[in-house]
Amino acid sequence: MSLAQRRILLGVSGGIAAYKSCDLVRRLRGLGAEVRVVMTENATRFVGPATFQALSGEPVRISLWDDSAEAAMGHIELARWAERILIAPASAELLARLAHGHANDLLSTLCLASAAPLHVAPAMNQQMWAHPAVQANLQTLRQRGVLVWGPAVGEQACGDVGSGRMLEPEALRDAMVASFGGGMLDGLRVLISAGPTYEDIDPVRFIGNRSSGRMGFALAEAAALEGAQVTLVAGPVGLPTPAGVGVRVDVRSAAQMHAAVLNAAAEADIYIGTAAVGDYRPAEVAKRKVKKQAGADLVLQLAENPDILASLSAQAAHPFLVGFAAETHDVLIYAHEKLQRKGLDMIAANQVGEGLGFEASENALSVVWDGGSIDLARASKSVLARQLVGIVAERFRAARP
Ligand code: PMT
Repeated sequence: MSLAQRRILLGVSGGIAAYKSCDLVRRLRGLGAEVRVVMTENATRFVGPATFQALSGEPVRISLWDDSAEAAMGHIELARWAERILIAPASAELLARLAHGHANDLLSTLCLASAAPLHVAPAMNQQMWAHPAVQANLQTLRQRGVLVWGPAVGEQACGDVGSGRMLEPEALRDAMVASFGGGMLDGLRVLISAGPTYEDIDPVRFIGNRSSGRMGFALAEAAALEGAQVTLVAGPVGLPTPAGVGVRVDVRSAAQMHAAVLNAAAEADIYIGTAAVGDYRPAEVAKRKVKKQAGADLVLQLAENPDILASLSAQAAHPFLVGFAAETHDVLIYAHEKLQRKGLDMIAANQVGEGLGFEASENALSVVWDGGSIDLARASKSVLARQLVGIVAERFRAARP
């Protein structure tokens, strides 16, 4: 990994996560990048400019009204100098100003004056993150091509637990490296499905499964880090969009997932079906809550759902197809059978069990293709995702040189 001679402008806005950005500067410089730091006034209440100045080896800019720097239109020079702008942490207030095109301080002005790709790493309280106003601002920014990296889920400085933690400096550094290319999936469009599907019975009940979406989200992040343009179709999960994912489509039912995947597949080189898609749905969805009939059993008629992978492989031109299989027994036998029956290029099989597969943070995979296989030993889903993405890239290049 190298960022030799890359010119990165790091914007720091007001939030406690600003302390992590000190480490980020160190890590970016460790890979050879030139880093210049621009802070908002509020950011200086959390970390002093002298810290960033010492770590970056460059003067830190805060104000548009700095006579010495602005004598030669310093903000325009800085805007032209940057190859990438990364704002970490990006507060709710800064995101709002960016979404509305404000230019009322040096950092927001630079974002308007620069042609460099803009990346933001949000950090805020989970309640603020979930607020529709914040989400609407992010939507606007995403539509303009701003890449939103994170946030992560976890414990927050205020004591809350939830989505809103800034991504760790290491993850931001890796995403920055990937943004400059040189990855195994450079130039490829990867479509990934993740999570469960919910099949409604009535307005309050549904049939679902235990998939958390973690495996698919880890794959989406790993593919983006290898330079892919990633589209993530997610069932109902409570996970934030991983760093680098370009488009996320949220769905609920198998039918919606089928439609979303088929719609995006025309533009994809590779499809990875990690989702645990419901095979059946209630034949009829009751419009009103189904009432209990005391003393009588209830029979639910189920109708078969369309198979997404099978629909894709039936198309004359389709992406390279990677399926998943989760089994409680005879994993490899079923994996080979699914590979053939669904017309796949590869399948990743996992045994579900104690601490593995569904919901768990770890997994173990047997990856099978026509003429080969490889076992990936038990590890965290993010480690496995990186290994699997490497194998997918290799098999894709072999199959479609
Ligand atoms: O989400 P996590 O908690 O991290 O857990 C990850 C996982 C265990 C869900 C994941 O690793 C996994 O194994 N996913 C596949 C689950 C499964 O058993 O799938 P299946 O055997 O029902 O289907 C096999 C393949 O066909 C899958 O790629 C599936 O996406 C696809 N399929 C299934 C049904 C359907 N209607 N359309 C499909 O495309």
